[in-house]
Amino acid sequence: MKGIILAGGTGSRLFPATIAVSKQLLPVYDKPMIYYPLSVLMLAGIREIFFITTPHDKDSFVKLLGDGSDLGCSFSYEVQDSPNGLAEAFIIGEKFIGQDSVALILGDNILYGSGLGTLLRNKILDNKPTIFALEVQDPQRYGVVEFNKNGEVLSIEEKPKKPKSNFAIPGLYFYPNSVINIAKEVKPSERGEIEITSINNHYFDLKQLEVQILERGITWLDTGTPDSLADANEFVKVIEKRTNKKIGCIEEVAFVRGFIDHKQLIEASKKYKGNDYGKYLKRL
Ligand code: G1P
Repeated sequence: MKGIILAGGTGSRLFPATIAVSKQLLPVYDKPMIYYPLSVLMLAGIREIFFITTPHDKDSFVKLLGDGSDLGCSFSYEVQDSPNGLAEAFIIGEKFIGQDSVALILGDNILYGSGLGTLLRNKILDNKPTIFALEVQDPQRYGVVEFNKNGEVLSIEEKPKKPKSNFAIPGLYFYPNSVINIAKEVKPSERGEIEITSINNHYFDLKQLEVQILERGITWLDTGTPDSLADANEFVKVIEKRTNKKIGCIEEVAFVRGFIDHKQLIEASKKYKGNDYGKYLKRL
């Protein structure tokens, strides 16, 4: 499975913080926001990753992450000229995806919890169109899944004014190769975007869609507004300080997943000249 990280968009809800800097490069506590979704794909065992950025931010992402070889991965980059919707990622990424299946993760989503990597790796092995759902307080901000009493899916709606449940869909999606052609058929919604929800409804109508509920051990944060970004900063800080372990540390994930060896991890730690991040890598 290949991976796409969508890091486009104007970040207008965070203006003026994101006028000159891409939202996904803002720090979330001690590392750039993009590290968190990147580490999730890597935890899932995905090594070939395609970053979709705005035209003016592409060089900054390349400067930060390079070709991925330091992490035993392969990174490539492409731009999305305007924010035309999540589903456009599969059209922009068509050549990159080739004949493979693909995971899409949004560059401002943080997923954290025990057993997440194993869960995702198992889902990839199932090789079915798979989305996730977890309970939130404010479902109207997201894609929403409605279940019946037996846990079967009844509907999937994008940002409904009257949500039929509290189960929101986080920005992580696994699809077979057919998603490229499905994306090409999707008509723009009222907000002028090619919605990922249309793709999910397509697989749902075909009775192929898997919806995996993420239980309370898994935390999902999005970071698109000043408050949610501040919450994410605080969350990462508290967990890291209290557990003495980092969240979203891409070098650690590369090492644990066996993408890089001991020597490469020590090399990586030298980049940080003994600051806390470098000390953490050395300690590992
Ligand atoms: C997008 C999707 C939505 C999903 C959300 C997750 O919303 O359209 O279904 O729940 O990401 O972050 P957007 O970021 O376009 O508001």
